[in-house]
Amino acid sequence: MRQNIEKIKREAEERIDKAQNEKDLKELQIKFLGRRQGEITQILRNMKNLPFEDRPIIGKLINELKEEIEKKLREKRNEIIKEEGKEGEESIDITLPGKRIPLGRLHPITQTIEEIKRIFIGLGFQIVRGPELETEYYNFEALNMPRYHPARDEQDSFYINDTHLLRTQTSPVQIRVMEKKGPPIRIIAPGKCYRRDAIDASHFPMFHQVEGLAVDENVTFSDLKGSLAYFVHQMFGKDTRLRFRPSFFPFTEPSAEVDISCIMCKGKGCRVCSGKGWLEILGAGMVDPEVFKNVNYDTEKYQGFAFGMGVERICMLKYGIDDIRLLFQNDLRFLKQF
Ligand code: PHE
Repeated sequence: MRQNIEKIKREAEERIDKAQNEKDLKELQIKFLGRRQGEITQILRNMKNLPFEDRPIIGKLINELKEEIEKKLREKRNEIIKEEGKEGEESIDITLPGKRIPLGRLHPITQTIEEIKRIFIGLGFQIVRGPELETEYYNFEALNMPRYHPARDEQDSFYINDTHLLRTQTSPVQIRVMEKKGPPIRIIAPGKCYRRDAIDASHFPMFHQVEGLAVDENVTFSDLKGSLAYFVHQMFGKDTRLRFRPSFFPFTEPSAEVDISCIMCKGKGCRVCSGKGWLEILGAGMVDPEVFKNVNYDTEKYQGFAFGMGVERICMLKYGIDDIRLLFQNDLRFLKQF
């Protein structure tokens, strides 16, 4: 019996020592102390075969053994918990980079519009918006483009019905603003426009413009020039030059197209500017008195300037994008670069 107890003791010590984790310990606890099949329970069961006088001595030994094993298990369990705690601490390496949460971002066109807005807000302009679905009146007639004007060719416009079309320019917003209030006016109107153009590297049937309009007493062409020069220098840098070329729009007189010195080659001539050294970025002019008449402004008292710029063009120049289609394919590999 004594030998048996010794044997169990040795075995328990050895195996508890080798235990790796909580699960091992649980198994050993059952093996040695388990109430039904545990080794100690089995010895206790055999007590009845012992001579009566030996029973207290053996009973004491068994109790000691039981306590011994319990103590060993407890110690080993604490040891394992400590080890795991340590490992847990070590597995957090605070020098490793954190998990990157993918960030959304604004579309390059939106970013460009935001930048244009920021610059003109700095000049005291307010932001307004007009509808993308327009009437012929606002999109054409009120802008001095009568019924058989070539720019009204159905080829160029998306008509919804006889009188409604998707606006081909942001200029109708000029009329909507002036109908609502009198001078002084300083607004810019960003938004989408639509034309029935065949798609290529520089044309897309949906595009964006930012319209500008300033009306007051004593507004001159110099004001137009100064405002646009300020804009260009903010947008493309101080060393960018401007060039006003005479042009024609039915709603401005005189009219101009404005070029900037090529931002790629600084005017020397390259592929982007087709060797010309200049890039056209907007149309502009002094508001035609015919337009003022349509909104009942006093043409003797007020003058104004207006301009309309192509956002895609400006965006592509600013970011060096050589194909407008890239902007609208929603390819994340492209969009993530901005
Ligand atoms: N609306 C003209 C266009 O789309 C641009 C423009 C706006 C020209 C305002 C002059 C004044 O081409």
